[in-house]
Amino acid sequence: MTTTVAFLGLGHMGGPMAANLVKAGHSVLGYDPVPEALAAAAGAGVEPAASATAAAAEAEVVLTMLPAGRQVLALYGEGGLLAAARPGTLFVDCSTIDVADSRAAHRAAVGAGHRALDAPVSGGVTGAEAATLTFMAGGGEAEFAAAEPLLAAMGRKVVHCGGAGAGQAAKICNNMILGISMIAVSEAFVLADSLGLSDRALFDVASAASGQCWALTVNCPVPGPVPGSPANRDYRPGFAAPLMAKDLGLAADAARAGGVDTELGLRAAALYAAYAEGEGADRDFSGIVRSIRARSAAGPARRPGGQAGPVQPDPQHHDEKDELT
Ligand SMILES: NC(=O)c1ccc[n+]([C@@H]2O[C@H](COP(=O)([O-])OP(=O)(O)OC[C@H]3O[C@@H](n4cnc5c(N)ncnc54)[C@H](O)[C@@H]3O)[C@@H](O)[C@H]2O)c1
Repeated sequence: MTTTVAFLGLGHMGGPMAANLVKAGHSVLGYDPVPEALAAAAGAGVEPAASATAAAAEAEVVLTMLPAGRQVLALYGEGGLLAAARPGTLFVDCSTIDVADSRAAHRAAVGAGHRALDAPVSGGVTGAEAATLTFMAGGGEAEFAAAEPLLAAMGRKVVHCGGAGAGQAAKICNNMILGISMIAVSEAFVLADSLGLSDRALFDVASAASGQCWALTVNCPVPGPVPGSPANRDYRPGFAAPLMAKDLGLAADAARAGGVDTELGLRAAALYAAYAEGEGADRDFSGIVRSIRARSAAGPARRPGGQAGPVQPDPQHHDEKDELT
């Protein structure tokens, strides 16, 4: 069945996602304030609209793929989308935004007589182009059922995670695991190196032992063991470090707001914020291994907080062998 979709935000992700909706036979009205983005989408069969509200006024579904919650809320409210749309329009926000902003967007849409679903994605630009994204959705059963065929046209997996904001919650929790585990894997490679252990040896053991994880076996931060990982192409993204910094920042905000003790999550957010502002600005997030290596080579004085001095023997230490886990 053909659906008329207003697609707002035709950037790195939104452009190819809108193109896949066109390929699936939907009628897509697009808007982006950047003329090049609008022109590229038009080349893929998206009908350019004069404004976001003009697109929303014609649509059954309004899909947003914007940088942050600020833009989503501004477009819904002051931008006039909710006022411009026909009653009962389904608003699907695929941007990665704060859980609290997402819930506010749901409330605003429902309060204006519409329906809402949050549906952030995982899979990056490659997944957007190949229509292999994973969607994590939050909202009512009926809203999910109405949006699912559209999401399925842009992705490979669509998961209904719960009520309003649940998709955003799933996204930031997953990416907090990923950010922390990438730092852990990177630190392990640098430590192994200092102990005379080769990257290959650590990889062969950890990938078949309890250290196994996606950050190691798919996005391995050192070149060699996983030929397709960004480390083999000078850390060209992949998943860009600034996006990881953004997602960890959202997780940190949510943890602070909820009084949750995510000690490693906060530390990972600080490390990625520093990396993304410097060398990592246009690198894959796995490139953080290089800053860990550089700080290690520079010595304890250069380490964040200067906390890493020579290791003193632990007076409590027993010589019994720890059980292998
Ligand atoms: N790029 C990735 O790999 C990736 C992966 C997963 C999730 N995400 C998330 O997807 C979202 C979009 O990411 P992106 O990489 O496409 O960003 P992007 O900056 O390339 O695209 C965002 C687009 O929104 C447009 N925009 C801003 N204000 C607008 C408005 N008022 N009306 C219409 N368009 C407007 C911008 O001009 C821009 O073209 C972000 O929330 C990001 O965190 C990105």
